[in-house]
Amino acid sequence: AVPVICIDGPSASGKGTLAAMVAERLGYHALDSGALYRIAGVAARRQGLDIAAEHADALADVARSLQLVFDGEKVLLEGDDVTAAIRSDQGSRDASLISAIPAVRDALLQWQRGCAHVPGLVADGRDMGTVVFPQAPLKVFLTASAEKRAERRYKQLISQGFDVTLTTLREELEARDLRDTTRTVAPLKPAADAKVLDNSDMSVDAAVEQVLQWWAQ
Ligand code: C5P
Repeated sequence: AVPVICIDGPSASGKGTLAAMVAERLGYHALDSGALYRIAGVAARRQGLDIAAEHADALADVARSLQLVFDGEKVLLEGDDVTAAIRSDQGSRDASLISAIPAVRDALLQWQRGCAHVPGLVADGRDMGTVVFPQAPLKVFLTASAEKRAERRYKQLISQGFDVTLTTLREELEARDLRDTTRTVAPLKPAADAKVLDNSDMSVDAAVEQVLQWWAQ
């Protein structure tokens, strides 16, 4: 089987950065599963679909038939650049809504498993270790305090010119944590055999080294 490393964790824990760096070091492919839900949300809106449970079948069709191209940092949906749209506030809200629909999660399951190509894959998200790749030999659950995660997101958004406050960001983050951990489909939790890594007081490089060390064991 193709080796897969799973990195799951809450919003703004740094799992995307960690996954990309580990993939780079190992020469593996990377899967940002959150981006898939974001893209599915944008695709649904483009087709004029409301993101609600009553449209589950139509939304699952949208998710199954995404015409996607990853062009470096850019994401093209049916040829249109949706990179900014998927990261917008609306994009985050829609991703959160669409990811709560079981038929959509099912539709994206095969898509995600299909990303496990040689020589290997580093997959990040919420349920990589618990649902998508339960046989993966290394599962990391990355966490950090809400305070640290809010601070990091704040710095990132401010540097991109967004007008946000730390208090609001932290409240939104905690609300999202609560939704992610208490939802009925694929709730956020560490896999039984996951290694928990709290990077509240850890540099990105130190976290990368820790994961590589676990992988080498
Ligand atoms: O990680 P990111 O913030 O990009 O995820 C976007 C949304 O998709 C979140 O609301 C998250 O709950 C959802 N998601 C999910 N399962 C994944 C990855 C993300 O439900 N594997």
